[in-house]
Amino acid sequence: MSGVTVPPASWVDGVLRIPGDKSISHRVLILGAMARGRSFASNVSPAADVASTAACLEALGAGVRLDAAMRAGLDGAGTGRGWAAAESALDCGNSGTTMRLLAGAIAAHPISAVLDGDASLRRRPMERVAGPLRELGAEVVTHDGCAPMTVTGRPPIHGGEYVVRVASAQIKSAMLLAGLAADSPVHVLESMPTRDHTERLLRLCGIAVTTGVDGRITLMPGEVQPFGMRIPGDLSSAAFFLALAASRPGWRVRCEEVTLNPGRIGVLDVLRAMGADVDVEHRDDAGGVEPCGDVAIRGAALRGVRIEGALIPRCIDELPVLAVLASQAEGVTTIRDAAELRVKESDRIALLVDGLRRFGVACEEHDDGLTIEGPCRLRGARVEAHGDHRLAMAWAVAASLVPEGGDASIIDGAECTAVSYPQFFADLAAVTQAS
Ligand code: S3P
Repeated sequence: MSGVTVPPASWVDGVLRIPGDKSISHRVLILGAMARGRSFASNVSPAADVASTAACLEALGAGVRLDAAMRAGLDGAGTGRGWAAAESALDCGNSGTTMRLLAGAIAAHPISAVLDGDASLRRRPMERVAGPLRELGAEVVTHDGCAPMTVTGRPPIHGGEYVVRVASAQIKSAMLLAGLAADSPVHVLESMPTRDHTERLLRLCGIAVTTGVDGRITLMPGEVQPFGMRIPGDLSSAAFFLALAASRPGWRVRCEEVTLNPGRIGVLDVLRAMGADVDVEHRDDAGGVEPCGDVAIRGAALRGVRIEGALIPRCIDELPVLAVLASQAEGVTTIRDAAELRVKESDRIALLVDGLRRFGVACEEHDDGLTIEGPCRLRGARVEAHGDHRLAMAWAVAASLVPEGGDASIIDGAECTAVSYPQFFADLAAVTQAS
C-alpha cells in the first residue's frame, strides 16, 4: 500500500463503528493468559500490535484463539497451560505496550524470556520499566537501556511502596501485573494519573485494586480469575475522524461504542476547548468495566488552545492529529510538557514539525512540544509515515483538509496504519466525499 494518495475532502459525514480498543485488548489477552481458567472477549482490536501480544502469549504457553469476528477464547494457566520459558525471543513487533506489559507479567512467573521488537521498538527506552521491575525483585537485562530485554521472574515479588517516575500507564501496568505474585500488598504512586484499564480489568478478574484520592494504587496480590468482556471501540482511532469533522462547520461524524475511560478522553476536552460541538452519549455495554459510549461531533470555527500539564497523558496518542487540526484553528496552539512524544513509535515532535511544514503550516519545535499557527490553507504534500501509524493517519487527515481544488497528497509508507487500525483508509473513504 506504499504511497497512498489522499485527495482533499469536500464533505465529511457518517457513522462509524470503530474497531476494539488496542490498549484494552492487550490487557484482556494478557490477563486471560494469566487467569486460572478459560476467558472470553469480543470486539478484540484487529491491530497488528495486539496480534504481537497474542503471538507472544502463545509462545509462553497460553491458548489464544481469535476468530474472524474478533472474538477471543483465552486458555490461561488454570487450563493446564502454565507459562513456560519461550524457546526463542518473543517478537513484540512495533508494540511498546506488548513489550512493557509482558515484562511485568513475566516477572510474576518463575520463568525467563527475551523480549525483542522491530527497529523502532529497539530504539525506545526500556530502563523505565526494567528499573521498577528490578526493584520489585525481577532480574532484567537491557541492551544500552533498550530491547532486546531479558526478564527473569523470581517470585515472590517484593510488596511495598513504589513511585512511577514517568507518567506512563505502561510502566504502572507492568508493576501491577508483576505485583500479582507479590508477598504483600503493592502500592504504586503515579506522578500524574494515566489510563486505568489495568486496574479496572484486574478488578473484573477478582483482584482487589483500589485507587486513593492521592492517586495511590493498592493491589492485593492474588490469583487472576477467568472473565468475559466486550471490548469498547478505540477512541484513539476514532480521534482521526473526530478531528477531521471538527475542522469545518457543517461536517459531522458519529463514532459508536468507543471507550470513555477518564484517562483517555483528553482529546474530547481539547476538541471542546477548540470550539467543536462534541456530544457524548454513555452506554454500558462493556459490562460496566469500562465506560463506553457514542461520540458525535459537529465542526465549527475553531480557536487555538494550550495543551499541557495533566492533560498530556490523557491525550498523548491524539496529539499528532490534534496538531494537524490546530492548523485550521484561529490563533496559536501550544503543546508543551509532551517530551514523551519523542520516544513513541517515532520522534513525533520533530516529524510532526517537518510534515506540517510540508503541508504549508507555520510551526515551531520545542524540546517538549510544538507551537502551531493557524488558520492555514493547507497545500497537498508528499509526506512519509516513518513507520509510525499515528503519523500516517494524521497525514491522511491533513491531506483531507487541503481545500477543494487543491492537490491530492501522497503518504509514503502508509501501510503502517495496520499497527493500530488496519481498515483506516476504508473508514476514511466511508465518511469523506473526495473533491
Ligand atoms: C498505552 C499507554 C501510553 C500510550 C500507548 C498505549 C497503554 O503509553 O501512548 O499508545 O496501553 O498503556 P505510555 O504509558 O508509555 O505513556
